[in-house]
Amino acid sequence: AEVCPKVQVIDGIPVSIDYDVETFRPALNYKPRPDDIFLSVYPKSGSTWAEVILYTLMNDGEAFNNNMAEYFARTPYLEQIGKRGINNMHRPCVIKTHLPFNRIPYCEKAKYVCVVRNPKDVCVSFYYFILKLTGGEPDKASFDAFFEAFINGNVYFGDYFEHLRSTWQQKDDVNVFLTSYEEMKRDLRSVIRRLAQFLAIELNSNLLERIVTYPSFDYMKERYGRAYSAQARVALANESPTALWPINKSSLQNCEFSLIRKGVVGSWSLTMSKAQSQRLDKIFVEKTAGMHGLDKLFL
Ligand code: PPS
Repeated sequence: AEVCPKVQVIDGIPVSIDYDVETFRPALNYKPRPDDIFLSVYPKSGSTWAEVILYTLMNDGEAFNNNMAEYFARTPYLEQIGKRGINNMHRPCVIKTHLPFNRIPYCEKAKYVCVVRNPKDVCVSFYYFILKLTGGEPDKASFDAFFEAFINGNVYFGDYFEHLRSTWQQKDDVNVFLTSYEEMKRDLRSVIRRLAQFLAIELNSNLLERIVTYPSFDYMKERYGRAYSAQARVALANESPTALWPINKSSLQNCEFSLIRKGVVGSWSLTMSKAQSQRLDKIFVEKTAGMHGLDKLFL
């Protein structure tokens, strides 16, 4: 059975057929501006959380749900907005992407914020996301099938480990910032301080507290999905503004999916068997050979 439904491969990258080729392809060839800030995250690794953090940081502590249209105009998703949308977006903004690092449009002056997450939580989070997409109920058989697909890289955006390695290879560049979902859970304030420094944004304690509050799990759980779908309905009703925000019926459905699920480290053990966990440990050791310090990021 098909694990990731409706896959198409565009220039080597597996994505859902809901992605428009005519938008996706030029996005891969977008020429970044020196002031561009990219957010590079493998799926289910904390993109939405990091995006809200960056939005709040770059917009002087503004809550995302104060103005959802502005939020979308400042947090474009590269793969679905394309070059034209990017040229029209509001700045400062953060360009989110799930592309492997070596496929993200690159410019030495642009900045790249990367978030990685331990593969077990990513795998389980991805599984529940796919279940929502397909309307399935969780059971052992469907997880087993998804697990095999995940370790073989047969999921949207391809192999987790290739993605990780590609990011790891650039992590010491001056224009690259690397953190992890686990580090954000462990010590968010210090990640935010480093991030502010990286982006040359002045941080006072008032701003810091807002960046801890609005992107917090509870705040987002309560408001993100609701604000997102309300805005999506407005855009759909007006048949607007597709250059900035390519919302369609299927993304309206998707946005009602919970992108904000459990929000913890280690919940994989509720779903993944011991045998699967051990297999993934072994694969991890093989696939991350030479990536020194990586295990510290996932603590
Ligand atoms: S997506 O669909 O690829 O963009 O998903 P992504 O946003 O990268 O990842 C979804 C997981 O991130 C969790 N999440 C959060 N954790 C902590 N704090 C906040 N604010 C937050 N927002 C989202 C979300 O619950 C998914 O993880 P799981 O493990 O499934 O809960």
